[in-house]
Amino acid sequence: MKNGHSRNSLKRNGSTRSRLEPTNGQTYRAPVNGGRHQKPVLITGGSGFIGANLAHRLLSSGQPVILFDNLSRPGVEQNLEWLRQTHGNLVQLEHGDVRNAAALNTIVRGVSQVFHFAAQVAVTTSLINPIEDFEINARGTLNLLEALRALNNRPPLIYTSTNKVYGDLKEVRLRMNRGRYEPEDEGTRANGFSEERHLHFHSPYGCSKGAACQYVLDYARTFGMRTAVFRMSCIYGLHQFGNEDQGWVAHFLIKALQGEPITIYGDGCQVRDVLFVEDLVDAFLLAQEKIDTISGEPFNIGGGAGNTISLLELIELITELHGKRPEVRFEAWRPADQQYYVSDTRKFSKLTGWSARVGVKVGISKLYHWLQEHCRLKTQSILQIGDLVKERQNLANGNKSRVERPALRALRNRKTIKLKDFQQRNASRAKLNRTLAKAV
Ligand SMILES: NC(=O)c1ccc[n+]([C@@H]2O[C@H](COP(=O)([O-])OP(=O)(O)OC[C@H]3O[C@@H](n4cnc5c(N)ncnc54)[C@H](O)[C@@H]3O)[C@@H](O)[C@H]2O)c1
Repeated sequence: MKNGHSRNSLKRNGSTRSRLEPTNGQTYRAPVNGGRHQKPVLITGGSGFIGANLAHRLLSSGQPVILFDNLSRPGVEQNLEWLRQTHGNLVQLEHGDVRNAAALNTIVRGVSQVFHFAAQVAVTTSLINPIEDFEINARGTLNLLEALRALNNRPPLIYTSTNKVYGDLKEVRLRMNRGRYEPEDEGTRANGFSEERHLHFHSPYGCSKGAACQYVLDYARTFGMRTAVFRMSCIYGLHQFGNEDQGWVAHFLIKALQGEPITIYGDGCQVRDVLFVEDLVDAFLLAQEKIDTISGEPFNIGGGAGNTISLLELIELITELHGKRPEVRFEAWRPADQQYYVSDTRKFSKLTGWSARVGVKVGISKLYHWLQEHCRLKTQSILQIGDLVKERQNLANGNKSRVERPALRALRNRKTIKLKDFQQRNASRAKLNRTLAKAV
């Protein structure tokens, strides 16, 4: 069992494929054409949260995957380690930067499909360094499109944009209902915002992602490439190392697990639709499968009207899961914050048959338990490192293990122990490394 999935064997075209089946009984899709002899799928930003989840699904069906990533996001090296340990040589890392056009020109040769996720992902960071944000998000995407355009056989491309391209939505009339914002308009309340909504890029991040999104769509229109864009709201799930700048669901859960206060920007009544990452992976696979039908189109993708939560409701859910209410602090609204955003996913559903299947409570509870395990392991790595090192010697002497399984796994691989140090300040990391350097 891996991450709540059981692996089933599935015979297709005379070869054995694997199908992932989550423990709640829903069947997730495996890619249609898996196999070691397949051309690889390229995922830029493939070590990140969404990339790693997609890669895992593809790799689990025997599909080779290339991850093109500069590993700039703290914590994502753990995802890479996990994919390597789980799938061995089927996964390949190309340590590269999307600002490097030459590297992209090389890596796109011979791939069957492309998913472009590499990005500067936070509005906050884009306010500090708009040029870098532009270089990565807009120019980096154009670099990739040009690399693909130069090929004779151009693989289809799926790009992940954001709901921020619709701006702060201040023009939408809202009302308060039981401690959460909701639109006054009945249709918007029932279905959310569709792709018909006018674009209103807000914040440097909104502009760079929005520009990239328009380029991706235009390369379908002007150059006949097969491309599609997902304008995504909040995605959450396993292998997400959320922080205050991006990934708020995981960030709130991590803070609660660490016993640290949670800062809410605004009043906490803002509402988002949230989508569990496995459902998103389903949507990606369907998008590639139906690329000839959906090419040149943007799609709003999220949990939709049936999977919404306010920030304060998440605090309540965390209290339920954690058995203790986390301390909450309030700060002023941040630029480009939306008080209400819910995706109308009907356009994509109509064309592909897709729908979100994992409910908010189920998904958040899965993420909580996954993070709980990781935080526990991290604490062991920092606090009990002396014991772990002793245990390593103990094992080397052929003795039976005296420690728990996850700690033992970390112990067997010195690198893994270091990597488990996610979300720690440099001081802790340095302390851990010093301890290891001395003792191992
Ligand atoms: N997670 C969400 O809720 C959400 C919502 C809307 C849109 N998106 C978009 O989805 C994509 C994936 O998001 P995620 O949540 O997995 O983020 P993530 O930060 O976990 O993954 C992004 C990956 O890109 C890599 N990267 C960053 N800059 C790079 C560069 N210059 N060259 C190569 N690699 C680089 C990072 O190291 C990281 O592994 C992003 O494009 C993001 O804007 C995500």
